[in-house]
Amino acid sequence: MTKITEAFVDAALELADNGTAKIGDRERELFGLSSTRLRSLINNLCHKEDTNYLELGVYKGATLISAMYGNPKTKAVGVENYRYDEREPKKLAAEGTIWENIKSQLNDNLKRYQDPDMAVNIDNLTIIESDFQTVDLSKHPKFDVCFFDINPASVAEYDAFFENIVPNLKTESVLVFSNYSNDKNAKELDAAFTKHSDKLEITWKRHRISSGLSDATQYYSGILVVGVKRNLTTKVAKTTAGK
Ligand SMILES: C[S@@+](CC[C@H](N)C(=O)[O-])C[C@H]1O[C@@H](n2cnc3c(N)ncnc32)[C@H](O)[C@@H]1O
Repeated sequence: MTKITEAFVDAALELADNGTAKIGDRERELFGLSSTRLRSLINNLCHKEDTNYLELGVYKGATLISAMYGNPKTKAVGVENYRYDEREPKKLAAEGTIWENIKSQLNDNLKRYQDPDMAVNIDNLTIIESDFQTVDLSKHPKFDVCFFDINPASVAEYDAFFENIVPNLKTESVLVFSNYSNDKNAKELDAAFTKHSDKLEITWKRHRISSGLSDATQYYSGILVVGVKRNLTTKVAKTTAGK
């Protein structure tokens, strides 16, 4: 099993900075809440043959499709609850409902890629309709690339990431977080890493800041990219102590 190294991620970022990736015009133009650079980065990160990619917050699938494009061995899981659309006047769907149009447009987009000539191996994709805070990912192989693209995100969502998602990551993995150009998000995310340092440690860090939160020319809302190593001893120590 190949590991994603810091050098591999630097190369992926450098290519993405120039918009270089395998994705074509169609994937660059798919309507979504991400930019060409961001889609290029995710496509480049998922280039490693046996990548297990997890995307939290799929919306209509533009970045998820870009992850899989031309990467036939990459396995991807997307988690989306269809409840928040920043383009709707009310943004949050009424209690007990979802934005049906997000779901139907995601399905339409995915249907277009069912043709094997479309360079997306749709058999390797699983969409889970769920709140990411409670999703059960334990039946899936552990993930080594994860894109946290939940919006809105605040302290509770970052805590949920460390509590519910981190146990499903490989020992060494690469995490990408959106909204890093937003000062509040950046501070809350940095604080969450400190608070949950018993669960994982950051081995290296990169970021790309954009001039707004939907900057199509840069990395959309800005990203933090980190290489992390899970701390597997915390759980073992507790289990042993309980015996
Ligand atoms: C910025 S958009 C994702 C954009 C997407 N990655 C793309 O390629 O266009 C954020 C998404 O997070 C979803 N979301 C927000 N809170 C969620 C939650 N708790 N669980 C699952 N999805 C959530 C929203 O419904 C929305 O579709």
